[in-house]
Amino acid sequence: MPLPPVIDDRPAEGIFRVHRDVFRDAALFEREMRTFFAGHWVFVGHASQVPAPHDYLTLRLAGQPLVLMRDGAGRLHCVHNSCRHKGAMVVHHRRGNRRTHVCAYHGWSYGSNGANIAIKAEAQGGYTAAFGAECHDLVPVARFAEYRGFLFASLSADVPPLEEYLGDARVFIDMAVDQAEQGLELVPGSVTYSYQGNWKLQLENSTDAYHFTSTHPSYLRLLERRARMPGRADVEKAIWQAEKKQEETMGSFGFPNGHALVWTTTPQQNHPLFPQLPQLRSRVGDTRADWMLRTRQLNIFPNLQIASNAALQMRVITPLAVDRTEITSYCLAPVGESPERRRQRLRQYEDFFNPSGLATPDDTVTYEDCQRGFASGDIEWQQGYMRGMQRVVRGADAHAAELGITPDTSVSGSFEMSDETVFHALYRHWASRMEAAA
Ligand code: FES
Ligand SMILES: [Fe+2]
Repeated sequence: MPLPPVIDDRPAEGIFRVHRDVFRDAALFEREMRTFFAGHWVFVGHASQVPAPHDYLTLRLAGQPLVLMRDGAGRLHCVHNSCRHKGAMVVHHRRGNRRTHVCAYHGWSYGSNGANIAIKAEAQGGYTAAFGAECHDLVPVARFAEYRGFLFASLSADVPPLEEYLGDARVFIDMAVDQAEQGLELVPGSVTYSYQGNWKLQLENSTDAYHFTSTHPSYLRLLERRARMPGRADVEKAIWQAEKKQEETMGSFGFPNGHALVWTTTPQQNHPLFPQLPQLRSRVGDTRADWMLRTRQLNIFPNLQIASNAALQMRVITPLAVDRTEITSYCLAPVGESPERRRQRLRQYEDFFNPSGLATPDDTVTYEDCQRGFASGDIEWQQGYMRGMQRVVRGADAHAAELGITPDTSVSGSFEMSDETVFHALYRHWASRMEAAA
């Protein structure tokens, strides 16, 4: 079936519209799952979640059970969690450490690299030579690759190499990883929550600067109060002041394959990395070090978000139905950080993010509000994609050029401009892949 006309992309006429069916049509949702989640690169985990030999982590991708495992030699594998004998799931715990995984049904066993190591009572089994010639190992996913600790899998072999898929968006993964001399790790523990709304509402919202002042007034009031408290001339104050600035303080890049980034400047001296700026400069160069002190919201299509502000947050989006989404949130931190700084990082992370934070609940409630609003069937087109269109630069602007990257589009301006063209990359990629899949 051809894709219905749900993305109205006419840049020459100054028009970019997204049809509400993109968020509410169950048939489109099924097609998205096949096209993107079962058919292309998807983020599946971070290497620090399985740090030691024989560590494993179970997950689901497009409804299919998988296991990420590290073998005795330290190599990572991503295999289908389904016994070759009669299909039972072999690994049941969320995570753990095992040299061998024994299927609970008939006792076939597998090593920590997924290879079959024993078929119970094989010698007595009267098996044919043809059976012996078959591979009995757990089946690897079609493609599995790592970029600087971030692990991606594809259930389809028909995908470009991961680095090509990530393209210049890699620079912003580098910027997160290179903050730490010894690399990044996930702080143990995660928070999972769900909302009754489409998965792309979360994907858009993290790069939606326009909602910030209206959706989070209580958070902003709290920042104002804190900023006036003696001894609290800190990060909150910096963020709050940055919101008020009129000059060029924000911008965005849209990349091929649906990736996107929004950046905001904040006064450098208030950033937690500021004391290390000289070392950062000598390690990664002046430009990238200065960029590390900007606030950055990175979307790696379709399911990974990395928010870099005072803390580093990683969100993973799992669509469950057209109107139901699960989010898992993690705190990223430099390996070897002092307990003191780690404590400060965790407090900053908890402050804003997660269902217990001061901002995430505002967002989640709003997604559900949108989804309920989408029930108004007569309204077809959203009007939330045209802020910033007059200012769009095709290719790299000066900000992209200084980083040596070539996005498809760049925009910069005041915080109040609150660009919405950053969503175009997502929907251009979405439309082209959905059409190709048809
Ligand atoms: S299903 Fe696993 S051993 Fe039979
Ligand atoms: Fe928000």
